Amino acid sequence: MFLPALATLLALITNAEAHSWVEQLTVIAPNGTFIGTPGYARGNYPRTASGFSDTTMTYLLPPSTRSNVTQLLPSDKLCKGTQQDQSQSDGSPRLQASAGAAIALRYQENGHVTLPQNQPGKPKNRGTVYVYGTTQPKVGEKLLDVYGAWTADGTGGDGRGVLLSTQNFDDGRCYQVNGGDISETRQKEYTHEASQLTGADLWCQQDIQLPTTAPSGKLYTLYWVWDWPTAPGADPTYPQGKTEIYTTCMDVNVQGTSANKQKANDEYAEGQDLNEAAIPSEFDKLSDQQSTEAPAAAGASSAVTSSANAKKATVTAWHTVGKTVTVSQDTTVTVDADQSSETPKSR
Ligand SMILES: *[C@@H]1O[C@H](CO)[C@@H](O)[C@H](O)[C@H]1NC(C)=O
Ligand SMILES: *[C@@H]1O[C@H](CO)[C@@H](O)[C@H](O)[C@H]1NC(C)=O
Repeated sequence: MFLPALATLLALITNAEAHSWVEQLTVIAPNGTFIGTPGYARGNYPRTASGFSDTTMTYLLPPSTRSNVTQLLPSDKLCKGTQQDQSQSDGSPRLQASAGAAIALRYQENGHVTLPQNQPGKPKNRGTVYVYGTTQPKVGEKLLDVYGAWTADGTGGDGRGVLLSTQNFDDGRCYQVNGGDISETRQKEYTHEASQLTGADLWCQQDIQLPTTAPSGKLYTLYWVWDWPTAPGADPTYPQGKTEIYTTCMDVNVQGTSANKQKANDEYAEGQDLNEAAIPSEFDKLSDQQSTEAPAAAGASSAVTSSANAKKATVTAWHTVGKTVTVSQDTTVTVDADQSSETPKSR
């Protein structure tokens, strides 16, 4: 009784300012259970550290200083100042995971899911979360070079990275404990023991899969982008609407490759502790991706199909190095596993 009451009180106090970021990264075992030591974003500032406030971890675009609240500029940086470099803070190590591993990125909803009445004009799905991946991050990376540019097949934008995942911010289960209807319904439907880390709240998660080609012994960068716009005309403060984007920048220490995970009995174990488990529907999608992974030539031709105008496309997630696949009379695909060959101009 005590803990939920306290959590509700805290929620009421902090809700006005609380926003979201990726709090923790965890590897997911083939049965859906979190395993191993969790990892953290670049320059993580734990909630328990002295001096912690929302602003030590949130990064808003466009910045609140911009008079035009719908305007993103080509110069806007993708990562917060404290997350520009690939460095970790004391006590918040980087996640270690094998290439091809399933990973849960968890964030708090802070009422953005369970108290929708607090912010008029927001999308029903509570915004969309995107995860981009690259082996070639840049200090000073620009939002618009990645967001809306990189694509799942790796041919978008400057071709340095891929879109790994797109999901609703509301994962369908997560809640902060409060007196709202959504929270109360979910508290009954998705019960779990209060944990030291999450309290009585159930954190949201986005389950992704590292590319099987992520090079072992190197860092693989993940950019999490939460797009949470206000529609025009819904909020009198913002008659033209408002662009509101938050990001978290992270690196994963890649060690080894998951051996043929699709062959393992990667059945999601039913009835497991929600504090320590992937979301079944999301996890199943990852398993499907693994088991339907096509052999090299078939994958290359599908990459070309989806970039029909590109005369030459760099396939970013591939197993064969230096192999040229002739797909049609005038289209050549250079397969280059380290993504370093010339990149297509697709914009
Ligand atoms: C899932 O597998 C992991 C690693 O093999 C194991 O530690 C965990 O107990 C399993 N979870 C369940 C619910 O069986
Ligand atoms: C604000 O930015 C948007 C998006 O770039 C643009 O369409 C609009 O014209 C700008 N408004 C003003 C008043 O400059």
